[in-house]
Amino acid sequence: MTTMTAETATRTAGPGAAVTLDAVTRTYGEVRALDGVSWTFPRGTFTAVMGPSGSGKSTFLHCASGLDRPTSGTVRIGGTDLGQLSEAKRTRLRRERIGFVFQAFNLVPSMDVEQNITLPLQLGGVEPDRAWLDEVVRRVGLAERLRHRPSELSGGQQQRAALARALVTRPEVVFADEPTGALDPRTARDVLRLLREAVDQTGQTVVLVTHDPVAAAWADRVVFLSRGRIVDELVAPTVSTVMGRWESL
Ligand SMILES: Nc1ncnc2c1ncn2[C@@H]1O[C@H](COP(=O)(O)OP(=O)(O)OP(=O)(O)O)[C@@H](O)[C@H]1O
Ligand SMILES: [Mg+2]
Repeated sequence: MTTMTAETATRTAGPGAAVTLDAVTRTYGEVRALDGVSWTFPRGTFTAVMGPSGSGKSTFLHCASGLDRPTSGTVRIGGTDLGQLSEAKRTRLRRERIGFVFQAFNLVPSMDVEQNITLPLQLGGVEPDRAWLDEVVRRVGLAERLRHRPSELSGGQQQRAALARALVTRPEVVFADEPTGALDPRTARDVLRLLREAVDQTGQTVVLVTHDPVAAAWADRVVFLSRGRIVDELVAPTVSTVMGRWESL
C-alpha cells in the first residue's frame, strides 16, 4: 500500500497541456458523434462544454477521459497517448489521474458514503490520506452523512458524494457531465464552487458539460459543440455573453 503524497499533488501543477485531442472522430454506425475535434485543455483551467442535445458533448467527454476509444484520432492526458495503452493500463491511468462525475451519479447502493468516496483508492490499493479525505468531505458538506447509503441521501447530496469520489484521488483532470442538471440553484452553486476551487487552489483541470449559462459562467472558457464539431469559443464568459453565443449557434 502506498499513501497519497506530495508526489501526487505536484503532478497536478506545472505548465503545459492537461488533455489534448487531435482530430478525434467517434462514429456510431452512420452517426458521426464527434467529427474531427482537435482541442487542448491547458493545465489549471476550467472549461465548460456547451451545445444542443445530441451535439456530441458526452461523447467528447468520454473520449477525452479515456472512458471510450475514438474511432480515429489521438487523445493525450499530459504526455500520455491513450491509444498506445493496453486496456488495463488505460483503466489504471483513469483511476489514478482522472476524476469523472456522471450525470447519474453512479454511486454503489450497498456502500455508505465514505466507502463510495474512497472506492477509487480501494480499487487502486491506495491508503486514503485521512486529512485530504476529511478536507474533501468537509468541502462537499457530507461530514454528517458518511455512514449513510446513497438511497438515504437527497439528489444533491448524492451528486456531492459523486464529486467527492472524483476529487479524492487528487486527479489531474476532473470531467463532469452535467453535474448540476438535477440540483437546486444553491446546491448547484456549491458544486460549481468546488470545481472552481479544484482549479484555483489545487491547480487541477476541470472540463464541465452543461446546458446552463449560469454554470458555464464559472468557467475560464466555453467551447461550443454542434454536430460533433467545435464551432465556437468564448473566453472569460459571463451569463449574458454565453446566452448571446448560444442564441447564435
Ligand atoms: N452508444 C451509442 N450508440 C449510437 N449512437 C450514439 C451512442 N451514443 C451517442 N450516440 C449518438 O451520438 C450523438 C451524440 O451523442 P451525445 O450523447 O454525445 O450527445 P450530447 O451532446 O451529450 O447530448 P445530450 O445533451 O442530450 O446529453 C447523438 O446523435 C447520439 O444519438
Ligand atoms: Mg450528454
